Amino acid sequence: MSQASSAAGSITSSVFGTMEDGRQVTRYTLVNTQGMAVDILDYGGIITRWTAPDREGNYQDVVLGFETLEPYLERHPYFGALVGRYANRIALGKFTLDDKEYTLATNNGPNHLHGGDYGFDRKLWKAEVKANPDSLQLQLEYLSPDGEEGFPGNLRTRVLYSLSNDNTLSVEYQATTDRPTVLNLTQHTYFNLSGNFNTSITDHNLQLQAESLLEVDADLIPTGNILPVEGTPFDFREVREIGADIDADHPQIKLAGGYDHCWIFTDGINRDKPAAQAYHPLSGRLLEVFTDQPAIQVYTANFLQGKLRAKGGGTYPYRAGLCLETQHYPDAPNRPEFPSTRLDPGLVFTSKTSFRFSVK
Ligand code: BGC
Repeated sequence: MSQASSAAGSITSSVFGTMEDGRQVTRYTLVNTQGMAVDILDYGGIITRWTAPDREGNYQDVVLGFETLEPYLERHPYFGALVGRYANRIALGKFTLDDKEYTLATNNGPNHLHGGDYGFDRKLWKAEVKANPDSLQLQLEYLSPDGEEGFPGNLRTRVLYSLSNDNTLSVEYQATTDRPTVLNLTQHTYFNLSGNFNTSITDHNLQLQAESLLEVDADLIPTGNILPVEGTPFDFREVREIGADIDADHPQIKLAGGYDHCWIFTDGINRDKPAAQAYHPLSGRLLEVFTDQPAIQVYTANFLQGKLRAKGGGTYPYRAGLCLETQHYPDAPNRPEFPSTRLDPGLVFTSKTSFRFSVK
């Protein structure tokens, strides 16, 4: 175990487990001066624990995950993980760049999902604790070799997690490549602000600064149509309970079994205000998400079925978590009309998303 502390709090590290090939996985524990604790693994950049205060100041873990490494080494629904090279879906696992067609791993029916069979969520990243007076910083770096999961270019990705004393965790992404490529990076934490992992998040409130979303087909691939949220179960422009319309008789809800859609942030949105916020009325916990990304996949864990063992006991039931995955549009490499996800050599991709906790 090693320890470093500063005005921003402390970072300790300890061995979390061993991968099948013998490599050791380290868990970094960031604790700010307020008492917020975030555990992050160098494996997948996974956030395994994140405590946040309720109205009475009680800090409780509010993210889904596992207590040991083993279930993370098996297939799991990307609990807490960094997702890349391409978060979300690419139709039929194919795209064309500069007249060359690329074939990706297909791991979601006929389609590519979240980076393929061995995406960023399953990689051991190089971790480095950074000295910074204002926040606790953990930098993770991974070099994805040319051709990995079918993607072109050696892609070097850096993710900087920073925890500050205003109970904000920011995630800054940086990537460079030596050949033209595409990428879409996100953080796949499942929040349950109640701190009770045996319950569903349908009692949480949600607000999204978005007036439209991408229509999807039965495989959750964008059709190309953009649907205005007005008058639909997807209208979260004003704060509304997630459960209110989650089972509404709407074709898009039926396809996804709830919310599993990409809402669009138009150029007109106010980036100084949260792009998304989730609130749990009972505990008072409020989570505000700020981002420079053009969209957000909101996923209400409709595929959880009470089979995975929950931290603290029992299992994770249907809809036990809420994912707020800031990102580019799914299938953008096949949709020239969508904002581009292309990265060229000589350029640096950057993006930043911050998660701020408070009480209301
Ligand atoms: C996707 C879901 C998927 C989940 C876990 C989400 O980002 O939108 O469709 O089931 O990740 O893999």
